[in-house]
Amino acid sequence: MSGDYRAERLELSPEDMRRLGYGVVDLLVAHYSGLASGPVGRKGGRGELEALLREPVPEQPGDPLALLERLPRDVFSNMLHVDHPRFFAFVPGPGNFVSAMADALASGFNVFTGTWFAGSGPAQVELVVVEWLRTICGLPEGAGGLFVSGGSMANLTALALARHARLANRTEGAIVYTSDQTHSSVARGLRVLGFAPDQVRTLRADADFRLPMDQLRREVAADRAAGRIPFCVVANAGTTNTGAVDPLPALAAFCREENIWLHADGAYGAPAVLTGAGKARLEGLGAVDSLTLDPHKWLFQSFETGCLLVRDRNLLLEAFQILPEYLRDTHGASGEVNFGNYGIQLTRSFRALKLWMSLQTFGLDAFREAIARGIKLAEVAEEALAEDPTWEIVTPAALGVVTFRFNADAEASAVDALQGRIVEATMAEGFALVTSTVLGGRPVLRLCTINPRTSDEDMRETVHRLAATGTRLAAEMNG
Ligand SMILES: Cc1ncc(COP(=O)(O)O)c(C=O)c1O
Repeated sequence: MSGDYRAERLELSPEDMRRLGYGVVDLLVAHYSGLASGPVGRKGGRGELEALLREPVPEQPGDPLALLERLPRDVFSNMLHVDHPRFFAFVPGPGNFVSAMADALASGFNVFTGTWFAGSGPAQVELVVVEWLRTICGLPEGAGGLFVSGGSMANLTALALARHARLANRTEGAIVYTSDQTHSSVARGLRVLGFAPDQVRTLRADADFRLPMDQLRREVAADRAAGRIPFCVVANAGTTNTGAVDPLPALAAFCREENIWLHADGAYGAPAVLTGAGKARLEGLGAVDSLTLDPHKWLFQSFETGCLLVRDRNLLLEAFQILPEYLRDTHGASGEVNFGNYGIQLTRSFRALKLWMSLQTFGLDAFREAIARGIKLAEVAEEALAEDPTWEIVTPAALGVVTFRFNADAEASAVDALQGRIVEATMAEGFALVTSTVLGGRPVLRLCTINPRTSDEDMRETVHRLAATGTRLAAEMNG
């Protein structure tokens, strides 16, 4: 590094900043352009990583350019690339380069979006992007929301809002309803908010993994008869397990009649509303009281980009606003939006910039196509699975998810164990990554196909290799 490197001021010279910055960009460009031809990633062992990375805190300055060699070698090589076109595990994070650059800008300018006073321009951008999402999801005017760290925080914030709006924050005897397909972040959010397990009715989903309306009606009636207070239903707008969508129009009508808050978790599936097929599946999305979105999933943003939309945005202020004296100068004039009073975080980064820059760069139509591609890829996978009788398709392609089992001539428990072993062997091979889940009490394999950079050939070759791995492991098991 050059001579005017001022370590004691934590400062680099302009020239060194450029060298580091260009080095970072070069590394990212190499990552994006080499991703498809490399392995989907690896999980390092603890001992191996301790040996590579354990060291005392460095007292003396070092060369950041050397770190750009060390990082890909020792750190980034020991992770799963959630943006790899053959990463079909959990919910992928396809991301996009523009979002990554927006993150760098937000971080470089260290944008504070808690108050209008400190970040009026950024707050206005957030208002605009929230409004775009509101119209995309079909919520009425008057709806609003905010960016948060992810789906978990959006669900927590929504549940806190529901507690405020329907219970005036008094939780005793209050009951929330959801299905057994709901993401665990909802149970965690309820736990954080002080709801006891017996205040949560987890209804067994129907044969299509959707929340059963009849049972919901019965449970709500029984709770009311017993003097309890049904206050919130959490519906799924795309379950993590199978992409199932709960009956949103019926739920919205029921919740309105019963004065129950309806929250939909669309962290995974809601962006599919941008496509024809997704819109049909997600009918009623705009009728909910609150909606979780997770742009770091199917809107292709880098982590951590979550979003909560709320039918009546004024409730957010009611629920979360606190006006301490040390922020008196920021309380602001009417029309000035202090996002720090709309949720839990005061200091918050400029997450909206990522989606704003991505949409400005590629246009919404490209997003539509990218999402439609994810829906189609699951159908390609399903077709490939259907060609081979060793596969049982457990749930057909829905919102970019398909689940299936490798069937072998063995006891049920051995076939169950085989599914997990296929995951392990596939991960060791490194070509693609799939994970498993449990449906109807039995392990199944699951592909989540939301990366628009996945080719049809990637998809078919993955299914083909899974079959070869399953056949080999089944033969070993029987031999
Ligand atoms: C349906 C659903 N809800 C919530 C979440 C949690 O989101 P996050 O991991 O961004 O906190 C996920 C994550 O996969 C999800 O699929």
